[in-house]
Amino acid sequence: MAPRKTRKTGKTARGSRKTGKGGAGSARKKTESHRSGSRHIVPGEDVSIRSFLIHGKFRTEAWDYSHHVVPPISSTSTYRLDSAERGAMGFYDFADPLKSKFEKSPIFIYERLDEPTRSMLEEDLAIAEGGEMALCFSSGMGAIASTLLAILQTGDEVIAHETLYGCTFSLLNNWFPRWGISVKYVDLVRNPDPTPYFTQRTRVVYFETPVNPNLEIVDIAAVVKAVKAENRKRRDKGKIKTIVDNTFASPACQRPIQMGVDLVVHSLTKSISGFGTELAGAVVGPKNMESDIILARKDLGTPLSSKSAWAILVYGLPTLDLRMRRAEKTAMAVARFLDGHPKVEKVLYPGLPAFPWKKTARAQMRGFDGKFAPGSMIYFTTVGYKKKPGEASCKLVNTIAREAYSITLAVSLGQIRTLIEKPGSMTHAVVPPEVQAAGGIDPEGIRLAIGLEEPEDLIRDLERALAKI
Ligand SMILES: Cc1ncc(COP(=O)(O)O)c(C=O)c1O
Repeated sequence: MAPRKTRKTGKTARGSRKTGKGGAGSARKKTESHRSGSRHIVPGEDVSIRSFLIHGKFRTEAWDYSHHVVPPISSTSTYRLDSAERGAMGFYDFADPLKSKFEKSPIFIYERLDEPTRSMLEEDLAIAEGGEMALCFSSGMGAIASTLLAILQTGDEVIAHETLYGCTFSLLNNWFPRWGISVKYVDLVRNPDPTPYFTQRTRVVYFETPVNPNLEIVDIAAVVKAVKAENRKRRDKGKIKTIVDNTFASPACQRPIQMGVDLVVHSLTKSISGFGTELAGAVVGPKNMESDIILARKDLGTPLSSKSAWAILVYGLPTLDLRMRRAEKTAMAVARFLDGHPKVEKVLYPGLPAFPWKKTARAQMRGFDGKFAPGSMIYFTTVGYKKKPGEASCKLVNTIAREAYSITLAVSLGQIRTLIEKPGSMTHAVVPPEVQAAGGIDPEGIRLAIGLEEPEDLIRDLERALAKI
């Protein structure tokens, strides 16, 4: 059967022809009939984003669940197809570069391609981040790798801030060279204008802000300004994309797309999931990048499972703002305590008056209510022992592991429980010591991810542990 005439091209944005052909119009009509009578709410206009994230959309193109108060969970790896034509239509429509998946009633085929519970989470996440579309992945690394591989090809070049989450650094440093993709590490914190490093091969500028683990701040507006100026000189295919890992702040504290960034990536495992029960990731961005990224997700096999999507949709995202505001208050109290402690050398928390990037943080870290939102992460360094760098902080976290009640020695962040870790030898161990030193990862550095406990309890645990170093 020939492709439908209304379709201009059967090609993806990368130019590969997709399988499956048209001709199953009747199958499509059945799904559309579910949409009648949907209430049209514009989040941010008719209702605040905070309330929207509690209720979601009631009805979506992905699934009519108007008689459920809580969105239902779908749990099927494959889908019954009424006819060969409907199956063919499903394949033909999948990742259609001309139409966003959020604008059509999907024909579900197989969980790895598309899935309704995940789609509902994606719709809400896109709104939380202020993007046109979101896609969810099996982990934050799944989101980062799939997104970058959807954009890049052999010969391309990435410009990245020199300090990155350890596995992101490992992806860029250990794997990209094997595929002929080069990476230039630059200090975007102290110089947010990457123009001198651009070449005709540059396709992506990538950074985290606040930076994991040391909470340094990259000026998003300044990077965007430089990339936009460069892109004005380039044709579409050669344009540079800006990608921000917004995991540390979460959309409840910062929405980089509203500042002109192309794509935001997340480890949903952290604040958005919030309870430490799910491993998940996401990318949020413009509609015109959806089809390439969803194809990469399909072929790399990195989609989020419906069960994890459901937990994040029902528990994580609706409570994100509340949890973040509470953790932020506690973080402020803990940061002040640490700042005044004689055995603490340096504290980096965006809410502290002496925070070095206070002005930029105040400009770009804003809650849904527009107020300054410094987040729940603290980085501090202990006063060290001269002969053995790193030993004092090691002693501190070991005391916490042994004796503390409210603070847990564990990697990860953004959970209801406060977690502590030593990035130099844990989350960022893959980063060579000299690169750690150049990027501001101190041997005595400690990362504290504040949860929902009472600040006094956290301070008591820290006070006791600090007394022992
Ligand atoms: C800033 C940041 N980005 C990405 C990731 C990777 O996320 P995941 O562990 O969900 O793959 C992490 C994990 O710690 C992270 O901290």
